[in-house]
Amino acid sequence: MTIRSVLLGTGSALPVRRVTNAELAETVDTSDEWIVERTGIRARHVAGDDETTSSLATAAARNALAAAGLEPGDIDLIVLATATPDQTFPASATKVQANLGINDCVAFDVAAVCSGFLYAVTVADNMLRGGAARRALVIGAETFSRILDWEDRTTCVLFGDGAGAIVLERQEVDEANGAGILANRLHADGRHNELLYVDGGPSTTGTVGKLRMRGQEVFRHAVVNLSSVLREVLEAASLSTADVDWVVPHQANARILDATARKLGLERERVVMTVDQHANTSAASVPLALDTAIRDGRIVRGDLVVLEAMGGGFTWGASVLRY
Ligand code: UT7
Repeated sequence: MTIRSVLLGTGSALPVRRVTNAELAETVDTSDEWIVERTGIRARHVAGDDETTSSLATAAARNALAAAGLEPGDIDLIVLATATPDQTFPASATKVQANLGINDCVAFDVAAVCSGFLYAVTVADNMLRGGAARRALVIGAETFSRILDWEDRTTCVLFGDGAGAIVLERQEVDEANGAGILANRLHADGRHNELLYVDGGPSTTGTVGKLRMRGQEVFRHAVVNLSSVLREVLEAASLSTADVDWVVPHQANARILDATARKLGLERERVVMTVDQHANTSAASVPLALDTAIRDGRIVRGDLVVLEAMGGGFTWGASVLRY
């Protein structure tokens, strides 16, 4: 027997407003054809004035709790990954906590942009296994529409808003076949800060700022880093790509997903793809895709699932779990 963080349930939430490529092309110099061919994106959801990172995160958390068969009071740890918090402080995790009516638990945000969910899962997994908490809500939630330059066609067509959440529980399980997180691997390389960043912030300009990206360079690094961290996390769990039932990758660009899968010799059918409907939702993309594939019946109990992401910093990481 061994102690692991077991995935009890998942949930997600999307803003009401869905914006297609054709609608975007009415105000931005772009086309449905260009966006689909270069990225695979067909639509994204955009938050309205009454929707925020914490409101989407709360809705996703409620859905995850219902799937897990738990009440908010059963949770003693909330880790929320976001690069678009409601405010500079307090942590949006504490807003989710208040919305759920949990009066006392550990709650904090993690900032690792698109890899934020992998960072949050790793932190929560270590806290659960170390005995600092028993049941955790791990959430990725973003409202990137608020930090997009809607006049920059090279970035504004790529991103969307949303939230995904999972519930993890510390359990004693069978070492060979038991469920739970088997390994995590994280990386960061701050030499690449200038390739993907926001040109504002409380300690520099005092403004919120807008997202800036050198897309081609990010693309190149993404394929190399993601395939290498996937190999690394599988090796850490003494597994090979042949053991993997599903890869749930960060949804930035269908071409990155295809190139990474090819490099690893993974069939496209084993890669969950939601970028067509959600676009790049940063820290929300992995839990959103995971929830989609669990709810539509693709991922079933016992499956071996790999999560991976790469984002600004650069930061990147992967986790492997048995569902
Ligand atoms: O989540 C964090 C990780 N982020 C990513 O992984 C993003 C990685 N990068 C990418 O996904 C791709 O590099 C992009 C989708 C951002 C761009 O695709 P690309 O194939 O690298 O295109 P490009 O930047 O080389 O641009 C090709 C052409 C340019 O025109 P010229 O210079 O060839 O005349 C762009 O100006 O496409 C033009 N272009 C557009 N045209 C229509 C750029 N954006 C658009 C647009 N609509 N929205």
